[in-house]
Amino acid sequence: MSAQSQPAQPQPAQPQASPKTGKPERHVTVADIARMHADGQRIAMLTAYDYPTARVVDEAGVPMILVGDSLGMVMLGYEETVRVSMDEMLHHTKAVVRGTRRALVVGDMPFLSYGVNIEHSLENAGRFISEAGAQAVKVEGGVRSARTIEAIARAGIPVMGHIGLTPQAVYGLGGHRVQGKTVESARRLLADAFAVQESGAFAVVLELVPAELSAAITERLKIPTIGIGAGAGCSGQVQVITDLLGLTYGFIPRHAKKYENLATRMSEAVTAYVADVTAGVFPAAEHSSSMDAEVLAEVLGAGALDRAAYSALTDEPIPLDRDL
Ligand code: KIV
Repeated sequence: MSAQSQPAQPQPAQPQASPKTGKPERHVTVADIARMHADGQRIAMLTAYDYPTARVVDEAGVPMILVGDSLGMVMLGYEETVRVSMDEMLHHTKAVVRGTRRALVVGDMPFLSYGVNIEHSLENAGRFISEAGAQAVKVEGGVRSARTIEAIARAGIPVMGHIGLTPQAVYGLGGHRVQGKTVESARRLLADAFAVQESGAFAVVLELVPAELSAAITERLKIPTIGIGAGAGCSGQVQVITDLLGLTYGFIPRHAKKYENLATRMSEAVTAYVADVTAGVFPAAEHSSSMDAEVLAEVLGAGALDRAAYSALTDEPIPLDRDL
């Protein structure tokens, strides 16, 4: 096949132009994150799964957006994250990328999209970058994922690690429990943290880890730790946006802080809309368009049947499937 006859490759979504300069705004890079960490700045990260939410989060100045596989539970209604597919993750990552001008977008590699073998892991990590337009990927697992992280990072794709409670291993871990509370499991977690760093990750999520242990890990690592349910001693924090906004149905973890109650506010808005439609007060004149009365009179004709309007245009009968 000649180069010209190759099928068109999907293009990564382009970042939007700045309304001020008209030029695409520069994305935060992993070097910027390292600089923030070196300067002692705490790093705020949030999940987003769609275009409008990404815009809100990005415009609020959040430097890193995670398209988490929590997508499966909080947006798609699955019971566990392991149900989310690559296609679903890519679909939502593309929407987030389209809504983001500045933030570093991290695509969460779903269950078994990595770790089967290196080629498969690389191919899927690459799809987040070249198809969806993300700038980094996240991979769960410490020692067990070290070779995978190393291969992806060596291919030039920034990788964020994720240790502690790793939801894709929830069945093996026996539920959503705090990890690292015993000597043995705390040692394992420390080893995981070093494995992630040594394999080339630029940051690591610590999920459901006792605050003292997270602080000790953070002190010992060079890369930033991003905590969720891991106390205040991490280099940054990540939260699931629906927990923050009060839009999560089902289990809400203890570590989540609710800053808004969107489910209630949305329900109030929907109830008000239904009441307006029922009462005939929506749409009002300002939500409708109008036309010249003479034009309408000419179309309809004085006292003519409505069908006359159609017959005036054509001798053909109205095309209906039942006449075929
Ligand atoms: O999927 C997700 O949202 C995550 C965060 C909880 C870190 O992995």
